[in-house]
Amino acid sequence: MRDIEKAERPLVGHAPACRYQTRLRTGHLPFAFKAIFTAALAAACLHAETGYDAWLRYQPTEGAALVRARTAALAVVTALGDSAPEAAARGELIRGLRGLVGRTLRVEAGIPAESAIVLGTLDELNRAAPQWRLNASLPEDGYWLKTVVDRGAGYTVVTATNPRGVLYGAFALLRKIALGEPVDSLDERSAPYAPIRWVNQWDNLDGSIERGYGGRSIFWENRHARADLTRVADYGRLLASVGIDGCSINNVNADPRVLAPETISEIARIATALRPWGVRVAVSVDFSSPKVLGGLETFDPLDARVAAWWKQKVDELYRAVPDLAGFVLKADSEGRAGPSTYGRTHADAANVVARALAPHGGLLLYRGFVYDHHMDWRNPKNDRARAAYDNFHALDGQFDSNAVVQIKNGPIDFQVREPASPLFAALEKTNQAIELQITQEYTGQARHAVFLVPMWKETLDFDLQARGDRFGTPVKALAAGKVFDRPAGGFAGVSNVGLDENWFGNHLSQANLYGFGRLAWSPDLSSRQIVAEWTHLTFGGNPKVDETIESIQLSSWRTYENYTGPLGLQTLTDITGNHYGVNVEASERNGWGQWHRADDKGVGMDRTAATGTGYIGQYPPVVACAWESLAACPDDLLLFLHHVPYTHVLHDGKTVIQYLYDSHYDGAEAVAGYASQWKALAGLVDKRRYHEVLAQLEYQAGQAVVWRDAVTEWFHRASGIADVRGRVGSYPGRFEAEAMHLDGYQVRDVVPAEDASGGKAVACAAAECAASLRFDGATGRYTLRVQYFDQRNGISHYRLRVAGQAIDEWDADLLLPTTAMDSTSSTRRVIRGVALRPGDEIRIEGRPGGDEPAALDYIEIAPDRE
Ligand code: GCU
Repeated sequence: MRDIEKAERPLVGHAPACRYQTRLRTGHLPFAFKAIFTAALAAACLHAETGYDAWLRYQPTEGAALVRARTAALAVVTALGDSAPEAAARGELIRGLRGLVGRTLRVEAGIPAESAIVLGTLDELNRAAPQWRLNASLPEDGYWLKTVVDRGAGYTVVTATNPRGVLYGAFALLRKIALGEPVDSLDERSAPYAPIRWVNQWDNLDGSIERGYGGRSIFWENRHARADLTRVADYGRLLASVGIDGCSINNVNADPRVLAPETISEIARIATALRPWGVRVAVSVDFSSPKVLGGLETFDPLDARVAAWWKQKVDELYRAVPDLAGFVLKADSEGRAGPSTYGRTHADAANVVARALAPHGGLLLYRGFVYDHHMDWRNPKNDRARAAYDNFHALDGQFDSNAVVQIKNGPIDFQVREPASPLFAALEKTNQAIELQITQEYTGQARHAVFLVPMWKETLDFDLQARGDRFGTPVKALAAGKVFDRPAGGFAGVSNVGLDENWFGNHLSQANLYGFGRLAWSPDLSSRQIVAEWTHLTFGGNPKVDETIESIQLSSWRTYENYTGPLGLQTLTDITGNHYGVNVEASERNGWGQWHRADDKGVGMDRTAATGTGYIGQYPPVVACAWESLAACPDDLLLFLHHVPYTHVLHDGKTVIQYLYDSHYDGAEAVAGYASQWKALAGLVDKRRYHEVLAQLEYQAGQAVVWRDAVTEWFHRASGIADVRGRVGSYPGRFEAEAMHLDGYQVRDVVPAEDASGGKAVACAAAECAASLRFDGATGRYTLRVQYFDQRNGISHYRLRVAGQAIDEWDADLLLPTTAMDSTSSTRRVIRGVALRPGDEIRIEGRPGGDEPAALDYIEIAPDRE
């Protein structure tokens, strides 16, 4: 049979809905917001929202906040300069205030005699209104919001050194108004923590996105820039609103043709769409381009012809895109071409490209993600975690001043928990930037709610003690170049938004892009502050809504970790496949190096200096000493750094094995709780987003059970140690499909075995099949959970009958990344409130569609609790 590729379609339908907003409460808000919301009784219409506007919805503020905003915002806006970012700032203020306070600002030129919002750089202001004496030394991109009273008029001045700073100031002003903060007596300066604040898009020129979960590329299709770049401009607006000023627009696994002359003119079009928002385009390049694209016989970085090729190519690019931000380069990693072909160093490679960029002010972000993915797993001294440090630290000081080593937050690859990379502390004479992954590759691929800011904060705030224990040298300061006084440094976030209406495929995932931008600007913000801002801006300020979303978001990383890889195990996913479903053993016995070394006696990588791979020795002494000792090593990182028996006792008194069991049950229970918490928001969130988030959380709750069962079963089998609470392997009310009465269904082994309950499932090779059982419990209402396999290569149809009556039917039409019966496709249908009597036949009928065999794993029957 032919593979049927499923059509994209929304999870649920939507319709507009109206409701009355309730009183705003302030208890949960950060201090800065508390003074604001007094008695705000608001009536608002809940439009069906798509999520497209993300946190820039500009829904009306009411009550005290509205009054304040009204008195301050006034009726006029004037932009003193004619740059595109200033025009964008003016347009955004008009749009924002129209939405927030229901007024349309009148546009004036120069300084009007009446009260106004005045936008301009400091130079422009001092020319137009020297009497205001607005002098400040603001760093590039920083802004100043200042109230000026002059001859009876009040001016809300938004100023900066450069036009982009003015734009950032306008967004900050709007954010304040939307959050209900007072804006009538302003004197606030804010500057970005670091000069580099880029996102990286891993978009391929054919329109697909590597590790993208929000649809196809907004930039590319069929090897050309899209004809309609409206989405690109709208993305630029989102990025600017949180202070991001650079965007690389193609995959780090770069197609050399991105530098072909015909593509360069298309890059210029993309740059034009982003420019008004102060976002500069960057390009990912392939190191073999001089040979593959340029026709030279070599790409040796020390060959003069190669240097000349890079120079002429970069000059050509800058003729088309004069404000290009620079390049991103992945070399000698995961099969990419690199300097090792010629026995050259990463510094040689970086410098030949950086030197071509330097005259134009361009930066080269050279990725520190270099490792050997063919490592011999039998050698206990081999360790991928060592790679970044081993490859780069000896080169410290050899990189040009416009080259920046872009280092992933941890030493492996965006796992659910990793220690901070030791390379941050090892580069004193080299620029560096931290690379964070906004797209949720190993953290649920936007089908699971995982708010990553708390994870990033932990790394950014971690003190690597790079200058001994007398100075604080947190990762954020090292990455931003503050510790060793570097000219460049900062943040790169792998964003991967796509054409989905809500950009990521999951409304809650938008918080990660928002949080990335806010942290890159101001890494001292707390996770709580960031999520409070985002929730209020995105979902609108009802206290119950705010509290619920904030609590889900803030606990979501720990929850996900609990059911996918606690104690520093890394994400126990299918490393060699889709990085989504469970596959505990996929980490082992291959060269990819994401080993956890679990066997029948114990688990964890011994990375100690004394007996292990020596990785811990890459850290500055204070950190290394603490982690080398089992007693001082934090439990959260234990199995990342040490190999211990399953009976090893953790700081909290549990054994490792019991902790593994407990955390998986806790995690799955927490997600079930999220779905119930969300349900309590019915009528308080616009219908479409309400239903879409509910569908996502319910799906996640099912997946968390799949993970829980698979991981606990695997470790139970490996260790032979029982769960003291007797849960693992015992599932009350669960009936395996293979043990049911089967009409047409055939029993199949599932690989790996822990991906299906009992290691087996049933699949249908006929036009239609059925699996049935006779209910022998007490009369009552029950919840039925049908666990089935929703593969990507077809759409099967299921029908559930009880005592002959059809009570539910559904299609297996999700777009999950597998064509097999495994943990990735394992999905559940929950049917609540089913009246059952002893003797009732429960029958599931499955009709295959395409290559998907309407497979079933089990049905669970539990007395109704709701
Ligand atoms: C991960 C990811 C790849 C990506 C790589 C990188 O390994 O799975 O798709 O190319 O990171 O960061 O370069």
